Amino acid sequence: MLAEVKADKIRTPKDLEDMRARILQGRSSKLPCIVIPSGTCCQARGSSEVVESFQKEIEKHSLRDKIALRITGCGGFCQTEPNIAIYPEEIYYQKVSPDDAEEVILETVLRGRVITRLLYADPNTGKRFTHLNEIPFFKKQQRLLLANNLQVDPTSIDDYLAANGYSALSEVLQGKTPDGVISEIKQSGLRGRGGAGFPTGGKWELCRRTKGDVKYLICNADEGDPGAYMDRSLLEGNPHSVIEGMIIGAYAIGACEGFVYVRDEYPLAVRHCKIAIEKAREYGFLGNDILGSGFSFDISISLGAGAFVCGEETALIASIQGERGIPRQRPPFPAQKGLWDMPTNINNVETWANVPLIISRGASWYSKIGTEGNKGTKIFSLVGKINNTGLVEVPLGITLREIVYDIGGGIPRGKAFKAVQTGGPSGGCIPSSLLDLPIDYESLKEAGSIMGSGGMIVMDENTCMVDIARYYINFLNDESCGKCLPCRKGTQKMLEMLTDISEGNGKEGDLELLEELAIVVKDTSLCGLGQTAPNPVLSTIRYFRDEYEAHIKEKRCPAGLCKALISYYIEPEKCQACLICLRNCPVEAISGSKDLVHVIDQDKCTKCGTCLDVCPPRFGAVTRLCSMEMPEPVLQGTEVMRKRSGEIDVNT
Ligand SMILES: Cc1cc2nc3c(=O)[nH]c(=O)nc-3n(C[C@H](O)[C@H](O)[C@H](O)COP(=O)(O)O)c2cc1C
Repeated sequence: MLAEVKADKIRTPKDLEDMRARILQGRSSKLPCIVIPSGTCCQARGSSEVVESFQKEIEKHSLRDKIALRITGCGGFCQTEPNIAIYPEEIYYQKVSPDDAEEVILETVLRGRVITRLLYADPNTGKRFTHLNEIPFFKKQQRLLLANNLQVDPTSIDDYLAANGYSALSEVLQGKTPDGVISEIKQSGLRGRGGAGFPTGGKWELCRRTKGDVKYLICNADEGDPGAYMDRSLLEGNPHSVIEGMIIGAYAIGACEGFVYVRDEYPLAVRHCKIAIEKAREYGFLGNDILGSGFSFDISISLGAGAFVCGEETALIASIQGERGIPRQRPPFPAQKGLWDMPTNINNVETWANVPLIISRGASWYSKIGTEGNKGTKIFSLVGKINNTGLVEVPLGITLREIVYDIGGGIPRGKAFKAVQTGGPSGGCIPSSLLDLPIDYESLKEAGSIMGSGGMIVMDENTCMVDIARYYINFLNDESCGKCLPCRKGTQKMLEMLTDISEGNGKEGDLELLEELAIVVKDTSLCGLGQTAPNPVLSTIRYFRDEYEAHIKEKRCPAGLCKALISYYIEPEKCQACLICLRNCPVEAISGSKDLVHVIDQDKCTKCGTCLDVCPPRFGAVTRLCSMEMPEPVLQGTEVMRKRSGEIDVNT
């Protein structure tokens, strides 16, 4: 571990620079450093045990003064966890086990020898890569925010200071007026990363101009989208960057108090954020008269109970106030009437984390990244049927194809890409014909989806789009607060219709009715949840209408997924009567014997797919049929005799 420099309160910008110099001086020995990412996802894959093992080995070999160990948040490449990076060479090892620790220390760190088996291998080509920045997953990214996750131990404010942390705040408090800060943020082109992409500088200005005895500021870390974890990883990995952004925002707006609203289901993010707030207060970046500027501001944490709707800003405000988290009509917007009816500015975690970067490097630098109207980078959580799962930070305007194939490494097992769901549960599904779509707020909206907070779920050819729409509407119906009728009843009715269609009970006219209902819900719901809830339905109907029609008209699920519309069948010509499927069937639906071809009793079968899973690939006798229709002739148990001689007698 790197030692912390004992701090007195930092009272002036000069104190800050002296402090930074002392920290850097203490670290000038350039020890080799082993970085072990240990965010929530890493810990789930065993990183804590890896950390323990490295600590033990360093002690065992008396290397405390020769090797530095840094425990960080998630580095982004979740597919390879637990992973480590060894600096200064930036050697990257994947799927490291506690047993590898001694060899890594003795061979790589001390003798400079690379351990080939721990190197990342491209799933498509098998090519191995030694250094982090050579790996295709990282190469095409522009990791302005995420790269720092590997540079700082989130529990160490000194690490953040060593990485130039709080210098943007110091610059602001020394020489910029609040209007000057707002103007810089406006010029940068930064838009809110929480979903709607509202221009951040404009929102700050509105709040600044609104009269109020006190003003508040909120960091929205609710992040309730299934499959999305960008905000959690930023808060876990680099909480000071978010806090520094909030302090700068508070100065610009004139706010005296801020809240980080984070769900209780994110314990590590909460812990790291708490430590960072305490340390920032101890060092003098929070509290009264920050850096001798006369400006005072403090932050506290408000825990959410994990309701998706509480991410909506007015519901979130109600929740902080101790009321039931349900949205209210806007206007008035929070900037006009927010927490306790006072002007309040609310921004997403990633929006806040961008602020120090813009101040430090300048609006004109920032506005060169991205495209016209869509500036900077955006972090996406790339999950689902994709080779390289993880957090991806890319300039806005990059195409979906580049994310899915160049960074994501394509679809596992050579399957075909079918669609990607962007924008969380109320986003839409974008089909393969739009793979060259640039990722920006407007293009996604035009394609029937939204940017949302950055979830990106990839689907392959085996995904049923009716089932996907049903899954998301089920989630949204569950999470609808019930305050307004269109959302409460509309999501329920859409769910019923989608369930009917996927169970083979769809009727002529259902599609048209579903579309009409979806548009009414979109147009008449009170808040963004209901207004965007129809997106998964409308986008799947728009791009995959034929799949809906197959379910309704032919009672067939082309992807072979909707249980009510599929069946499992054993091909008599291929069955070797090996008994494996028969023995493994959990409901004893398979008959046959050593001499008899096996047959599935369709009335008993629960369509769990075990028979298909266990049938040896060399026989490949079990088939999943995309409809309920059995091939002719229908085979009945003992009607089919398989003679051991290999002669097959069908239907005699
Ligand atoms: C149902 C619903 C859930 C939302 N969840 C989040 C969330 O988890 N995080 C977030 O930053 N914004 C979320 N938003 C958007 C917020 O209402 C708000 O627009 C955002 O926090 C503003 O920050 P930004 O301007 O930095 O994007 C949600 C909106 C809706 C309608």
